[in-house]
Amino acid sequence: MTRSPHKLIPDDFSPVPSLAAFDGVEVVAVDEFGGGTGGAELDAIGVLVHDDGPLPEGVGLDREALGRAGFESKPGQTLLIPQAGRTLIIVVGGGPADEMTDAALRDAAAAFVRAVPKAAAVGLRVPPLGSIDVESAGRALAEGATLARYRYDALKGEPREARLTRVELRIDDADRDAASAGIATGLVAARATAVARDLANTPPSHLTATDMANVAEMLGGRFGFHVDVFDRQQLVELGCGGLLGVNAGSAEEPRMIVLRYEPESEPTGHLGLVGKGIMYDSGGISLKPSDPMHLLMKMDMGGAAAVLGAFTALRALGATAKVTGWLMCTDNMPSGSAYKLGDVLTARGGKTVEVKNTDAEGRLVMMDGLVLATEEGVDAIVDIATLTGAALRALGSRTSVLLGTSQPLVDRVRDASVIVDEPAWQFPLERKYRKQLDSDVADIANLGGADAGATTAALFLAEFVGDTPWAHLDIAGTMQSDGDDAWRSKGATGYGARILAEVARGFTPID
Ligand code: BES
Ligand code: ZN
Ligand code: ZN
Repeated sequence: MTRSPHKLIPDDFSPVPSLAAFDGVEVVAVDEFGGGTGGAELDAIGVLVHDDGPLPEGVGLDREALGRAGFESKPGQTLLIPQAGRTLIIVVGGGPADEMTDAALRDAAAAFVRAVPKAAAVGLRVPPLGSIDVESAGRALAEGATLARYRYDALKGEPREARLTRVELRIDDADRDAASAGIATGLVAARATAVARDLANTPPSHLTATDMANVAEMLGGRFGFHVDVFDRQQLVELGCGGLLGVNAGSAEEPRMIVLRYEPESEPTGHLGLVGKGIMYDSGGISLKPSDPMHLLMKMDMGGAAAVLGAFTALRALGATAKVTGWLMCTDNMPSGSAYKLGDVLTARGGKTVEVKNTDAEGRLVMMDGLVLATEEGVDAIVDIATLTGAALRALGSRTSVLLGTSQPLVDRVRDASVIVDEPAWQFPLERKYRKQLDSDVADIANLGGADAGATTAALFLAEFVGDTPWAHLDIAGTMQSDGDDAWRSKGATGYGARILAEVARGFTPID
């Protein structure tokens, strides 16, 4: 990778340090910790405790003693029980046994791992699972443990926490094969999320559109998908006026990165995924003020990162559909050559767009990707974009805005979001607001009115999908977390990578 020498970015800098972290961790279902040695070689053992019923073995205290220490088995609560030996014992609150869910297990594994930041080899004793499916429990526990230990430390002299090397899950009365299958899925899914987090956390000058294409090629080679990269000249030939217009002010070239996954046997369908890849959003000529939220605009490629993350999981998950991804990558910069308010851009396919605000750039790069996806004849399109501050205002940082033209497809995205506990809430695609996007000079304008900004942005995108069933995730709110929150570590969340992988996994055309 060639980088500008004045930035002093080492040639071997990796925008995806999590790959090494996942190569170095083993997560296993066991019937006895430490392979029969009673856990002697583990740094910490967690014991998940519900708020009623007998205490599991291995705690060495009774409920009264735990209560005196303030431990009430509330979800997310942990208590360290000092031991003479090397292995720390942590009780982990599980709440009421009959309220246990996959999501609660994921959170509990995360709470445990966060309580022992210096522990590399850990074990977690899980109580009987009741009605929870063993495989999905294994998946949730593996995701929770690995994602909670995620830290973006690529540019720090010393990592802040120990790297996880081994996680032993002691699951009572469980079919260990099912648990192991779930763990394998969980590791692949968590790695997809970690890759998306890495890319979004990487500083903007360490990850240009050109770098993103190089990373995609590297990941394609390793995880079994094909990558086609389109440079500025090729984008001119394709007529991608949105991506080119937004790129006009930048010293960096744009890149459209097309990812192609083919299953081994006859595909069950063809899914298109389109991701917003604004490597840095300054707002352009409609310059953003310097406030802390805008410091986060290196994450404006979180949609593209989620798509790329999802692709790293497809082969390992045995995805049965053909999946094609379009990552629309450039930064959005002000300069003498930048696109201006009043400019008219021509999208792939010929529609003209009046630019009324250069900070509403996401929809402009996405329109070209959406048109290309429809031209490819995909059975459905799911797009993902850090599109509007309005999505953040409306639903905060926990829940994404979900819209679409096909209710069955929207339902599939929502079902996937429930499985991976990345919440999404459907907004109506209110066609009455479409006239807010009318332009006096072009077919459409890139700016709606003051209200319902997430909806008008989606209405803009809807103009470019034709009859192809389409769903849209606006992840402006969920792209990052202000602090550690269960398995969501502070910083980029990697939201969407696991949702998209889940939608793609067994995708079939919408009937
Ligand atoms: N990248 C921003 C949206 C964003 C805001 C993402 C906050 C994450 C956190 C997007 O390009 C943008 O600037 N949108 C404008 C659109 C407006 C000008 C119509 C916005 O939401 O203010
Ligand atoms: Zn913007
Ligand atoms: Zn943006």
